Formats: sequence, structure tokens, C-alpha cells
Amino acid sequence: MSAKGVFITGTDTGVGKTVVAAGLVRGLVSKGLRVAVMKPIASGSARTPEGLRNEDALTLIGAANAAAPYETVNPYCFEPAISPHIAAEDVKISVDITQIERNFDTLAALSDLVVVEGAGGWLAPIGPHESIGDLAVALNVPVVLVVGLRLGCINHALLTQLAIKSQGARLAGWIANAIDPAMARRAENLETLARLLGEPPLEIVPTLASGAPSLELTEAAAKLLTVISKSAAVSY
Ligand SMILES: Nc1ncnc2c1ncn2[C@@H]1O[C@H](COP(=O)(O)OP(=O)(O)O)[C@@H](O)[C@H]1O
Ligand SMILES: [Mg+2]
Repeated sequence: MSAKGVFITGTDTGVGKTVVAAGLVRGLVSKGLRVAVMKPIASGSARTPEGLRNEDALTLIGAANAAAPYETVNPYCFEPAISPHIAAEDVKISVDITQIERNFDTLAALSDLVVVEGAGGWLAPIGPHESIGDLAVALNVPVVLVVGLRLGCINHALLTQLAIKSQGARLAGWIANAIDPAMARRAENLETLARLLGEPPLEIVPTLASGAPSLELTEAAAKLLTVISKSAAVSY
């Protein structure tokens, strides 16, 4: 298991992976680490004079303090906001996991830790045969699951945990993200999630007002570093 990275997955698309990943990056930076980021596969991008640019990748780059070329951070960038495997097929590109591994190694060499954001949820396809989970397994880094707190999230969280375990990946922890301000019985849901997932969240992110100052997840960053250090005998 590489101690050089962490893979951020989520219970679904739109559950706050980017918001949480960027918050975690800022938390790690505030602890004095050199942090690089990666959004290996993105769909939903804008045409710019420099080429296609994806908002998630740009957000992560904005939070990181180890600079790298855009193409290293986001080697697969597709224009339409559709499942990456369909977007890739449309432009006759096949996502090559070994290429992503090479980019990861480049980023790992210039940082203490690489925070990688997946695309969609754990079983989201990235090609005819492979899913985001296969990519996380290939990168061989611990996984953090972002649970978007809304009705149905307990089922999604447990299914995701099951899939992560079944592929032999290591779940380093989960982060609760209060994406739905109107969610009923949030406290009971949190208690159930902690009990059924087997551990309390690394951090609970409240519902954020738009335009709120940049999120910095110091609690999750500290706990994550402890978990990673223990598993890899590396200290930060
Ligand atoms: N804690 C939160 N409070 C309020 N809005 C949030 C929160 N987390 C995420 N969002 C919003 O929800 C949407 C999806 O978040 P995002 O991080 O892009 O999800 P993902 O990366 O999983 O697709 C965005 O508009 C984001 O600003
Ligand atoms: Mg995202």
C-alpha cells in the first residue's frame, strides 16, 4: 500500500467529493505537507485556448501547494458531462490505467501526498471493462469515502464499503458531508452510518453557505495521516 496518496470516492456523483477533497488538501497543507492533486478522469469540461479544462481539476489545483502541469493532474478530460466510458468511446480514446499510474508517480515524486479524486461512485465505468474502483486498486492507495448525507445514503455507503472490501482496497475512513440542508433525522442517520460502517467519520462537514470561505478539513487530515502512517510505517 502506497503511503503517497489517498483516493477520494463517494456514495454517488454530486455528493461532495470535490468539495471534501479540496478541503482535505487544504487541511493537509496546513499541517505542513506538500500536497499534489489528481483528477485522472473527468467529464464535463470547458474549451479554453489551452485545451479542455475541468472544474473539479481546477478546484483541486487551486487547493494544492505542489504545482504540476494540468495534463499531469488530469490526463483524461472529456467535454460532455456524461459517464466517462461513453465520453471516451465518442472520441475513440481508451483510458489507460498504466498511464494514470505513471502520472501518479510523477506527482508523488514532487509531493508528500497525492490526493486523487475519482469520478462518480466506486463502480462507475471508465471503459468497457474497468471501473473507478479498479483504478483505485491499481494506484494501491487507501480510500476515503465521502458520504453525501441524504435519504438513501446508508444503503449507498454500505454498498460502497462492500465493493471496496471485495476488491481488496483499504478504506481509510469516511467523511460525512451534509449536502442536503433539509435532511430529516441527520443525527440518527449519522449514528447508524457510524455503527454499520464500523467506525465514526473522520470529520462531519456541515452544509456550507455558497460563497463560504474555503473549507479546511484539519481534523480529517490529522486522522488520515495517523491511519496512513500506521499502515505504511511512514511518519508525516
Ligand atoms: N457541505 C456542502 N454544503 C453545501 N453544498 C455542498 C456541500 N458539499 C458539496 N456541495 C455542493 O454540491 C455540489 C456537488 O459537490 P461536488 O463536490 O462537486 O460533488 P462530486 O465531486 O461528488 O460530484 C456542488 O455544487 C457543491 O458546491
Ligand atoms: Mg467532483
